[in-house]
Amino acid sequence: MQVYSSIAELRAGRRSFTEKLGFVPTMGFLHEGHLSLVRRARTECHTVAVSIFVNPTQFAVDEDLDRYPRALERDLDLLQKEGVAFVFTPTPQEMYPPGFATSIDVGPVAQPLEGALRPGHFAGVATVVSKLFNIVQPTHAYFGQKDAQQCAVIRRMVRDLDIPVEIVIGDIVRSANGLALSSRNAYLNETERSRAVMLSAALSAASTEIAAGERDPVRLRAIIRDTLAREPALVVDYVSIADPLTMQELDHLIDGAVISLAVRVGATRLLDNYVVQF
Ligand code: PAJ
Repeated sequence: MQVYSSIAELRAGRRSFTEKLGFVPTMGFLHEGHLSLVRRARTECHTVAVSIFVNPTQFAVDEDLDRYPRALERDLDLLQKEGVAFVFTPTPQEMYPPGFATSIDVGPVAQPLEGALRPGHFAGVATVVSKLFNIVQPTHAYFGQKDAQQCAVIRRMVRDLDIPVEIVIGDIVRSANGLALSSRNAYLNETERSRAVMLSAALSAASTEIAAGERDPVRLRAIIRDTLAREPALVVDYVSIADPLTMQELDHLIDGAVISLAVRVGATRLLDNYVVQF
């Protein structure tokens, strides 16, 4: 497995791979969610590349950039075992040299929900992902449904800018108690971890109601909020029932709608979502 931290070296190494190249962009501190994307890429592509880069431009100044968990050696070990061909581990200086000025605004899909609560976040994500696509030049790129709005933003950008890559979305990987895996779960203490289970429990409550015929987003949002309220220590940022492509709120439920939550557990913000299937 080759590890490149410079763009020039990666470009030189990339030339030896001429068939399908699957790419998994990450911020590291890898868990089974990331590895599920790597494994899917391995089954669908000849070659798999991964990037590990904690992208400063997608963090606001008051966010957790400095304490974001990092474990590069362990991550490289895991990726080697998964049969990854090369890993890109640039420094912030390599990605953003002096004078760097461009920012990609993907428009309305990036504005609600995470976009509203984290101003500038999706401009940071879209810009770094387009840079990574230009550097790695994958034929396929793998993203997790865990970050539903990020998926919608990337799909919009790839279509609008005619980026020649196929976007593949992998299912959310959860721990046995339902908690969606996230690098940020490392911030949770034991009490918070047990409280965090309520996110997936609330989504399950909604899915049970949908299976029983409920179709009213207003009532479904209320059911989710009531379930979350059983853990008074949770602070709900939003409960959304949105169109999966535009991320705009729905006034009637459609097949494929994304029910998503952002909830604060102590100092940690957690996301989860569920895709409606009739
Ligand atoms: P990061 O949070 O490291 O996630 C990398 C990829 O793993 C994303 O596509 C994310 O949706 C996916 N992922 C995370 N948890 C998952 C889970 N439990 N199940 C399935 N997939 C999961 O998302 C980012 O990094 C960054 O924004 C990035 C795209 C790399 C741009 O900097």
